[in-house]
Amino acid sequence: MRIVLLGAPGSGKGTQAKQLVERYNIPQISTGDLLREAVAAGTELGKRAKTAMDAGQLVSDDIVLGMIQERMAKPDAKSGFILDGFPRNIPQSQSLDAMLARVGQPIQLSLLVDVDKSVLLKRITGRRSCGSCGAIYNIYFSTPKVPGKCDKCGGTLQHRSDDNEDTVANRLTVYEEQTAPLMSYYKAQGKLRTVAGVGSISEIFDKMCEIIEAQIRPLASAMKKINEATATAKKAAKAGSAKKAAAKKKVAKKKVVKKKTAKKKVAKKKVVKKKAAKKKVKKKLAKKKVAKKKAAKKKVKKKAAKKKVAKKKVKKKAAKKKTKRRR
Ligand code: AP5
Repeated sequence: MRIVLLGAPGSGKGTQAKQLVERYNIPQISTGDLLREAVAAGTELGKRAKTAMDAGQLVSDDIVLGMIQERMAKPDAKSGFILDGFPRNIPQSQSLDAMLARVGQPIQLSLLVDVDKSVLLKRITGRRSCGSCGAIYNIYFSTPKVPGKCDKCGGTLQHRSDDNEDTVANRLTVYEEQTAPLMSYYKAQGKLRTVAGVGSISEIFDKMCEIIEAQIRPLASAMKKINEATATAKKAAKAGSAKKAAAKKKVAKKKVVKKKTAKKKVAKKKVVKKKAAKKKVKKKLAKKKVAKKKAAKKKVKKKAAKKKVAKKKVKKKAAKKKTKRRR
């Protein structure tokens, strides 16, 4: 739940915000409170802010934006927040929108607490706040049980230094000039709702809760539906791409297998060819060997025949010689 409370000084933003915190369990982020803490602590930022606050003027945007950024980054603001007193002018609201757009958590509702100017002065000048727990009282409208003491924690009630008539006049002028234009800003975004800030504090609170429930619950359920649809679409897309990837993988695998098989085939063919060639060479060699053997045999045979003929010739010659000698 991300809510901006709009309203003039003294309209009751702080009073209602404290109750909304209890109801919805989200923090109130009040730039006024943060600035007052810095002033009380005497920090450099506090010193710079004090002059503007005492004069009823706005503190510079860079100080406030830095402070709000730091505060909104804290873990308790992750599930929502109620902004009280911020944004205070158009540049602040634009910075806030940009900041929230970056995290996809836009403002859901800008709730204006509408109070007539004539009532505001008495509310502001009569205000007393607890220095310990921040509870808000009023010496005219909501008095503590023991004067000057906080009902909740017994702390001392204080009067804000800027709650005097002179400063209030300035604060109201600044509100009209710089903060009131935010109504049109949020109206244009369809986020502005108004609650009449007169009547008892609890009556106003009930009306505010009604608006919040009506505005944010349907929005929340619509957002839930959108988120669910987005998640389903994402899942489907993921499943689709997983299927595609699997198909791609299959095709790639097939290609690899085909390539491997072709390579194997070629290698096998090569081996077969090599073997055949070897066999051929072997056959040729064997043939040659046989032919050589045959030729050698023939030669030996021829030689033997020749020897035989020669022997015969010698024998014939000897016989002839013998015959001659006998004669
Ligand atoms: P800040 O603290 O924000 O003051 P504000 O906006 O002027 O508002 P108030 O706190 O005065 O009024 P409220 O609407 O909260 O009323 P509340 O509930 O207390 O700012 C103070 C200063 O800080 C500024 O002037 C500025 O210098 C600086 N600053 C702060 N934020 C800034 C920013 N973003 N940029 C630049 N500068 C910034 O009620 C008032 C009284 O009325 C109480 O006593 C309460 O008990 C009483 N009351 C409330 N409701 C009712 C009711 N229904 N009936 C009768 N009494 C009621």
